[in-house]
Amino acid sequence: ADQPLVLGLETSCDETGVGIVRGETLLVDAIASSVDEHARFGGVVPEVASRAHLEAMVPTIERATREAGVKLSDLDAIAVTSGPGLAGALMVGVAAAKSLAVALGKPLYGVNHLASHVAVDIVEHGPLPEPTLAMLVSGGHSSLLLVPDVTHDIQSLGSTIDDAAGEAFDKVARVLGLPFPGGPHIDRMAREGDRVAIDFPRGLTTGRDMERHRFDFSFSGLKTAVARWVQAREASGEPVPVADVAASFQEAVTDVLTRKAILACKEHGVSNLQIGGGVAANSRLRAMAQERCDDAGITLRVPRPGLCTDNGAMVASLGAQMVLKGRTPSELGLPADSSMPV
Ligand code: KG4
Ligand code: ZN
Repeated sequence: ADQPLVLGLETSCDETGVGIVRGETLLVDAIASSVDEHARFGGVVPEVASRAHLEAMVPTIERATREAGVKLSDLDAIAVTSGPGLAGALMVGVAAAKSLAVALGKPLYGVNHLASHVAVDIVEHGPLPEPTLAMLVSGGHSSLLLVPDVTHDIQSLGSTIDDAAGEAFDKVARVLGLPFPGGPHIDRMAREGDRVAIDFPRGLTTGRDMERHRFDFSFSGLKTAVARWVQAREASGEPVPVADVAASFQEAVTDVLTRKAILACKEHGVSNLQIGGGVAANSRLRAMAQERCDDAGITLRVPRPGLCTDNGAMVASLGAQMVLKGRTPSELGLPADSSMPV
């Protein structure tokens, strides 16, 4: 087979991900998560994450190669998330990738975490149309990206000016007394609720805000509006309709995200939209985006929920694209860059 066999390591946040692809085919996606260790703190604790990556790295690599039936010596390249993310967490993955690359004598590819959220869709739905408009919505990012080629020249059209979309889900979940990470819980609660029960604000969508921040997002005003609404209801002594609040909040987020993504497609003449990142697992976002893309004549691609959250397959997939497109490998001095731009 002339398709490159690539192993990818992801350690930018709280998931230790090891993925192996052959070209555009996913062989295995092994994950060890420290999310339960962070839950009692209500957010990811960097020190805890780094230590968990150290402990999980070797066993997860062993599990991935075993499940894929692949020997390390068969690999054609090693890819690793080199940024952005938590500095100490990234360093564990980068150090492991360098060790493998040196020991095996194989090329090393440092990849951007945002670009790899886009690239993972290739192992799900095949080659990415060029150009694609990508919306990345996770706990750390909310960005609209113009992607002429997933390995090269990705342009950021806009991003959040305060909280990321996933952060808003997590904070609102906390207000509603739901566990961390809150996104999946809000998603589930919202199914029982009325999404037009409460008219929450849609940040940066009208007037001068929209003019100045056409493709930017703001979710902190929405989060505050939800907290105030819940407090007022509690003060009145009436029960808080948790499902209605969850559904109405979720509606506001997904309305803003899909509206701006489709506007960006139209204004940049792009007819392919790809959505990735943990929030892309949201069932309402997926349904609304599909409906609105159908109306606008835009082809929508969203990976299955398990590939939307952080994983190693995304890194392996982007690494394979770097090999296939003839990109230059990274130096062995590859640094972990916690604030790497796209
Ligand atoms: O991409 P990801 O795993 O990690 C980052 O790079 O941040 O995203 C995690 C985020 C969390 O904020 C989580 O609450 C959110 O994705 N999330 C969801 C859903 N599943 C995960 N948000 C809304 N609905 C979901 N079903
Ligand atoms: Zn991510």
